[in-house]
Amino acid sequence: MDKKARILELKKEKNAVILAHYYVPDEVQEIADYIGDSFYLSKVAVDLEADMVVFCGVSFMGESAKILNPEKTVIMPDETADCPMAHMAAVDKIKQIRAQYEDVAVVCYINSTAELKVHADVCVTSANAVKIVKALPNKNIFFIPDGNLGRYVAGQVPEKKFIFNDGFCPIHHQLTVEEVTEEKRRYPEAEFLVHPECQSNVLALADYIGSTSGIIEYATASDNKEFIIGTEKGVFYELKKKNPDKMFYPAGGHMICEDMKKITVDKVLKALQDTDYEVNVSDEVCKGANHSLNRMLELGNR
Ligand code: 13P
Ligand code: SF4
Repeated sequence: MDKKARILELKKEKNAVILAHYYVPDEVQEIADYIGDSFYLSKVAVDLEADMVVFCGVSFMGESAKILNPEKTVIMPDETADCPMAHMAAVDKIKQIRAQYEDVAVVCYINSTAELKVHADVCVTSANAVKIVKALPNKNIFFIPDGNLGRYVAGQVPEKKFIFNDGFCPIHHQLTVEEVTEEKRRYPEAEFLVHPECQSNVLALADYIGSTSGIIEYATASDNKEFIIGTEKGVFYELKKKNPDKMFYPAGGHMICEDMKKITVDKVLKALQDTDYEVNVSDEVCKGANHSLNRMLELGNR
């Protein structure tokens, strides 16, 4: 029996569903039941009827799915697939900021550890951060861990005062103005679509700034035929599938998240077979982090 057929069989047997982020390899996206950005996947996770969730992504995604569904079995095909940025903030710093500013909301990008989420007031993703920060009653915002996304959101919500943290995504942060300018010179008709995890001088060159889903939606709706894409290369799979007549060029040849690429079809099959790498989050952490994730779902869905 081929791998895909065996995966289908195991999914039925275990009442399992496969969730995948746009950055995992094409062949993994192909076998997924749900593919999307972080916000979409966290919403999907809540409404699932399945007993088991196989999360094809990095650890904060599996953790969030578990926190939102403590009664379900959540498994990761590769337990070492992690997002370096998720660790780039400190609980001590949060405590220090809380002591310093009376009216502060700690806004935590979903790309963060469960421990950081426990200490946050609300989570956000790149798709809903502006909307959620605007909806908060607080004047002061401590945005963790991503400094680039924080600065982008601050630019969209000038009525609030932001305190930034210096975390960053190693993949998006690397993209330079020179690289984008060179691509624009090669493809003068192309629009530049970029993820807000990039630096502000790169965002300044954009025709559109948004989450991975936002980028895909924008390119699909646009009358333009060519696009320079400033995010991880995994999105090209969905971009091309939805837009076979359009051209997509990577803004920097290096925009590949090695952790997302650790997820393979073989590992998905093995995870389903052996219930490998179950995500475990303690009850205490689950309860604490559930609050900030649910507040995101509540404010983000309004
Ligand atoms: P999205 O919120 O667009 O899914 O992005 C997640 C991510 O990891 C970006 O690097
Ligand atoms: Fe983390 Fe960046 Fe990879 Fe996204 S692309 S998972 S932010 S390292």
